[in-house]
Amino acid sequence: MRIFAVIGLLLLAATAGAAEPALDLTIGGETRHFTRDQLLARPDAATIEVAKDAIYGRAMTYRAVPVAALIAGLRPPPDTVIEAVATDGYAAQLPVDQILSTDSKSVIAWVAIEPADAPWPTLPDKTVSAGTFYLVWTGDQAVTVRSEQWPYQMARLATQPSPAARWPELAVDAGLTAADPIRSGQTLFVTQCLVCHKLNGAGSAEVGPDLNRPMNPTEYLAPAALHALIRDPASVRDWPDRKMQGFTPEQMSDREIEQVIAYLRHMAGRKG
Ligand code: HEC
Repeated sequence: MRIFAVIGLLLLAATAGAAEPALDLTIGGETRHFTRDQLLARPDAATIEVAKDAIYGRAMTYRAVPVAALIAGLRPPPDTVIEAVATDGYAAQLPVDQILSTDSKSVIAWVAIEPADAPWPTLPDKTVSAGTFYLVWTGDQAVTVRSEQWPYQMARLATQPSPAARWPELAVDAGLTAADPIRSGQTLFVTQCLVCHKLNGAGSAEVGPDLNRPMNPTEYLAPAALHALIRDPASVRDWPDRKMQGFTPEQMSDREIEQVIAYLRHMAGRKG
């Protein structure tokens, strides 16, 4: 009997201690804290239709608040991006002008909120949903926003210096011409890979390994195997806990994968 009472008390304590899900938004050092209920109760919360949700892979309907409305009155400092950090350590760098756009002919960014009494479906191949807070895009150009820029299970959004200014460790040799494909590879690396990986210790993601230190994959994987791994990691090696999904040809063309590999190969000679 007594043991049940103790367990009961523990459960009670655990429930009371479980804070309501909340999202922090920090713009130029000023932080706003929003709980799920506060967001759902806002007058600017709307029901939106996302024609092609990049993570669920189909049409979805959400209760959501425009990111621009949450930021209203705060000014992102110049040469910053908005970093979205997820509870699992995923970290996306989102361009400020894109995230603050309110033009439906272009894109509009929304924080979608999963209501406690109406949970969303689980993600493809996962046992959890994209909630509680998920960044989704509407507008005519929403389909062009890469899936890496649809961060889910978000914990916070915060302005940060642009990746180039924040992490000089990512820089290529300054002598490369502006049109050098290694530079395109660097840009792709920042949007597609840095969300999960670090390089030379740079980056804020905690999901995958550093891709330059101690060894760069171009130093131990044959070029064709590395290309295959980026396209579809399971085609090279597979196990139940594998987290990297790879990229469809729509998400990254063969040419773009080669540019990322060219950047990695270049960085093997720049371990800092
Ligand atoms: C969603 C997160 C995620 C993204 C995006 C991602 N990776 Fe990964 N990657 C991982 C994780 C995690 C691993 C470790 C193996 C695993 O669990 O899949 C990994 C493993 C790797 C490996 C193998 C390293 C080794 O020696 O085992 C390479 C190479 C790699 N990633 C390259 C890339 C490149 C290049 C990109 C961008 C084009 C990229 N990854 C994008 C999460 C990611």
